[in-house]
Amino acid sequence: MTDTAHPTIATHGVEHEITGLSREVPLLDGSRTRYINLDNAASTPALKCVTEAVEKFLPFYSSVHRGSGFKSRLSTAAYDDAHEIIGEFVGADLENNCVIFGKNTTEATNKLSYRLSGSPDDVVISTQIEHHSNDLPWRRRGNVVHVKATPEGRLDEEDFDRQLAKYAGRIALVAVAGASNVSGFVQPIHRLARKVHEAGSKILVDAAQLAPHRKVDMLPDDHPEHLDYVVISGHKMYAPFGTGALIGPKATFEQTGPEYCGGGTVDIVTLDEVYWAGLPDREEAGSPNVVGGVAMAAAAKYLMNVGMDEVAAHENELVMHGLERMAKIPGVRIFGEADPAKAFEKVGVIPFDVETVSHFLVTAILGYEGGIGVRSGCFCAHPYVVHLLGMGDSEAGDWREQMLAGDKSNMPGLVRASFGCYNTTADIDALVDMLERIVKGDYKGDYELEQKSGEYTPKNWTDPLEEYFEL
Ligand code: ALA
Repeated sequence: MTDTAHPTIATHGVEHEITGLSREVPLLDGSRTRYINLDNAASTPALKCVTEAVEKFLPFYSSVHRGSGFKSRLSTAAYDDAHEIIGEFVGADLENNCVIFGKNTTEATNKLSYRLSGSPDDVVISTQIEHHSNDLPWRRRGNVVHVKATPEGRLDEEDFDRQLAKYAGRIALVAVAGASNVSGFVQPIHRLARKVHEAGSKILVDAAQLAPHRKVDMLPDDHPEHLDYVVISGHKMYAPFGTGALIGPKATFEQTGPEYCGGGTVDIVTLDEVYWAGLPDREEAGSPNVVGGVAMAAAAKYLMNVGMDEVAAHENELVMHGLERMAKIPGVRIFGEADPAKAFEKVGVIPFDVETVSHFLVTAILGYEGGIGVRSGCFCAHPYVVHLLGMGDSEAGDWREQMLAGDKSNMPGLVRASFGCYNTTADIDALVDMLERIVKGDYKGDYELEQKSGEYTPKNWTDPLEEYFEL
């Protein structure tokens, strides 16, 4: 399989349009190599067009909404446009819905958790698959029911149906990930939305991992499969400038005041009264991250221009290639879906481990000796990873005790290779080459474990960071 299999992505040149893609990094043997980022599920590098938009915008940057100078007028227009572009990116009808910018998906989800009203008996239905950011904010609010995952890590839709039927009439919200950050499984969000609406509730889709890989379409508000709320992060879609968004009905935010208040959130304040500003201002307290908004919108425009179907098709080839090649490495176990023919059920994420080597050590060797960036551990989804690993309560209890005592050396976990639209099959081949070496013990470093963090570093090694960047 070659990288020219996708003329459309190649025509767009996506694989060359990433800031810093050709930057070399140091290796343990003293040489340098091109950095291969296979940690896109954690955070993506900036698209060049995003970096350029930021550079072009910064000379005109000024305060928004409250300044009268030309630069303020320009910045205000750009910031307002950014909201509209993000609305378009997720297919929101902005007549009745609003786009609220914040730091990231986590902040956006927390924001929505403050808006839920209802009785103390109400429940939020979430799932065992969720990132902690789509679980903990709901737990703080009250009763959370977790829909089960199947043994291989898919959403157990029969259990989903059971829980909907059991709690119908008192479901404050159903909160599901559009795609898992651990297994990559894509949820049938529109089918779930239909069921949620039939049960008289609303659905939030955590699209942090979906939006960079597949088209997100909220559909018209009166469509039975409409997504009521969507949250996304700029840093996972090639705009790592500190902005994410919550998109949802204006009515949700018009009922109460915001959880953070102060500058920018009001029209009138007297010593006794407050009149909240319109949306989204009342929900974006303080001076906003205008640059982040501009960056995220530039990324969204780029992705819409390339076409999310093209992105998805390219990434599907990467997952198929990865699954095919990794399955042949003795001692490497793939979690979730390992059948290349079913690759399209996942976004570009392959979780795995090496049976005889700690996940922490695998990532260290990949980084120090291969120049390959991946992440290992539980990926802010502890219940799901413990489930994927098939760990029972007593086994999980033992390592939790150790961790609480300050020792992470036996923390269970997986290694995760996650792809972006710019990755190539050559990147995956480099990963496979390194894994083949690791299983044979063919690596150079003498690695030391730090118990507190669980991380491995090569003995007598100091990162030459100042040669690359210094403030
Ligand atoms: N949530 C990010 C991840 O999955 C950080 O790695």
